[in-house]
Amino acid sequence: MTADGKITTREYSPVDFTSREDKMHLLRQRALMDAVLIGHSTLKHDNVRLGLPKGELREERIARGQTASPLRVIVSNEGRIDPALKIFQSEIAPILIFSTTRMPRTVQKILREKATLILSDARAVDLAWMLQQLRREHKVRSVACEGGAALFHSMLELGLVDQLNLTIAPFLFGGREAPTLTGVSKQFLPASVRCTLRDMRTVGDECFLTYRIRPRKL
Ligand SMILES: NC(=O)c1ccc[n+]([C@@H]2O[C@H](COP(=O)([O-])OP(=O)(O)OC[C@H]3O[C@@H](n4cnc5c(N)ncnc54)[C@H](OP(=O)(O)O)[C@@H]3O)[C@@H](O)[C@H]2O)c1
Repeated sequence: MTADGKITTREYSPVDFTSREDKMHLLRQRALMDAVLIGHSTLKHDNVRLGLPKGELREERIARGQTASPLRVIVSNEGRIDPALKIFQSEIAPILIFSTTRMPRTVQKILREKATLILSDARAVDLAWMLQQLRREHKVRSVACEGGAALFHSMLELGLVDQLNLTIAPFLFGGREAPTLTGVSKQFLPASVRCTLRDMRTVGDECFLTYRIRPRKL
């Protein structure tokens, strides 16, 4: 995020404001996890593949007994996901889509050829249940949530986040409508989330922070 807490502009354009080191930091974190999780809006705007480059990071995973790349998990309530997105054109790791039966039938048909669909009858995906399913059915023990803000806000609300990796980049964007780390929601979180600083590193003008987040009693 920028020094004024923004993660993108008000147009939600795929802005690239962090360094190579930050991008490597992201890949290193991703490489440690069993699964990587993304909200539909981020997937749509940034058109990411959520993979890992060939080489060291993949080899280290295999040496640890993991698959070469983490499982890729998409969350969407409405399910209007464009099958032409880049993620569906790359086969580096299986894709799971947690959505609802609101997903149009035509989209379901095409996406079933590229991903596993887990559709519930509810209006919205139950994120706690989703994590349980990942653990029980797919042996996932660790998940990197790569945003965006709306999904992160929901995960925080439910007490589902145990660590925050935050890079502060040397920019100020301003603008009330540009989302912050927790989005544009006018709602407060149900309770302040207490973070404990575990690590802080500076490289050039960027600051890399690691916070532990205390589990909330549900
Ligand atoms: N600077 C950074 O490091 C960074 C990182 C990530 C993202 N971003 C930026 O963040 C922006 C997108 O963030 P965003 O806040 O608009 O959206 P988001 O969190 O990426 O996605 C929100 C969407 O996820 C789906 N979803 C399903 N269950 C949900 C739940 N319980 N809570 C919240 N969402 C749920 C919904 O999809 P449906 O609408 O399909 O139902 C919802 O609209 C993009 O511009 C991206 O570039 C920046």
